[in-house]
Amino acid sequence: MNTEDLSLEDVDLFFGKKQILRGICLRVRPGEICGLLGPSGCGKTTLVRIAAGILRASRGRAVVLGESMPKLLAMARIGYMAQGDALYPALSAEENLQFFGSVYGLRGKALRARIAELAETVNLSEDMKKPVHLYSGGMKRRLSLIAALLHKPSVLILDEPTVGIDPLLRRGIWAHLRGVAQEGAVILVTTHVMDEAEQCNRIAMLRDGALLALGTRDEILSAAGAVGLEEAFVRFSGGAPEEGAV
Ligand SMILES: Nc1ncnc2c1ncn2[C@@H]1O[C@H](COP(=O)(O)OP(=O)(O)OP(=O)(O)O)[C@@H](O)[C@H]1O
Ligand SMILES: [Mg+2]
Repeated sequence: MNTEDLSLEDVDLFFGKKQILRGICLRVRPGEICGLLGPSGCGKTTLVRIAAGILRASRGRAVVLGESMPKLLAMARIGYMAQGDALYPALSAEENLQFFGSVYGLRGKALRARIAELAETVNLSEDMKKPVHLYSGGMKRRLSLIAALLHKPSVLILDEPTVGIDPLLRRGIWAHLRGVAQEGAVILVTTHVMDEAEQCNRIAMLRDGALLALGTRDEILSAAGAVGLEEAFVRFSGGAPEEGAV
C-alpha cells in the first residue's frame, strides 16, 4: 500500500449498542478528491472523524500516511475541518489563523504570507481584522477552511466545507481544492450537495452507515442505470448494491 494514501479498512463503529458504521472500505490516493455523499445522519461525520484520528474505529482501522490512526505523526500532516467551526469568537480572523499556524510551528513572515495568500482565495482579505463573532456562517466556514490549509497538509479532511457559501465563491473554493489535489494531496470531503459531489474524482455513497456505491460519477451512473447522482442514490437505496459498483 502507498504510504501517502488514506485508507479505511473494514471499519465498524458502535456508539453504545447502536451500530453507526458498517464494514467501510475506502482508499483515497494522492491527487484524488473523494466525496462522501449521503443523507443527514448516515455517518459521514463519524467516518471522517475516524479518518482524522479523533474517533477510534470499533473494528477495522484507518491507515493514514502509512500510520494506523490515531497517530500524532500522521495527524500533524492532516488538515481537518470539522462540521462545526472551532474558532475563537473574540479574536479576529487573523489572530485565529496566527494561533492555528503557531500550533503547526508556522510563524513570522512566512505565516503572514500564507494567511494573506489563502485569505485571497476565499475572498476574506478585507475581513481579516474583524472579530469572528461578527462573521456570518459562510465566512466562518471559509475561515475554518483556511485554518485547515495553513500548514499545506498532505491529507485534507473536510466536513461540509461549503455550507452557506454562495455558488460563485464555492466554485472558486473547488478550483483551489483541485489545485491542492493536483499538487499531490489526498482529499476526503463530505457533502450532501449532488453538484458538489460531481466535482470529485470519486464518490462514495453512504446510507445507514454502509457504502452503497463507490466510483467515478460515470461509473456510478452506469452501474445504477441512472442519469443523475440523485437518481442513482435512490436506485441503490432501493436494493442491494449493484455488482461492480462497490
Ligand atoms: N457521540 C455520539 N453518541 C451517540 N450517537 C452519535 C454520536 N455522534 C453521532 N451519533 C449518531 O451517529 C449517527 C451518524 O451521525 P453523523 O454525525 O456521522 O451523521 P452525518 O452523516 O454526518 O449527518 P449530517 O449530514 O447531518 O452532518 C447519527 O444517528 C447520530 O445521531
Ligand atoms: Mg455530519
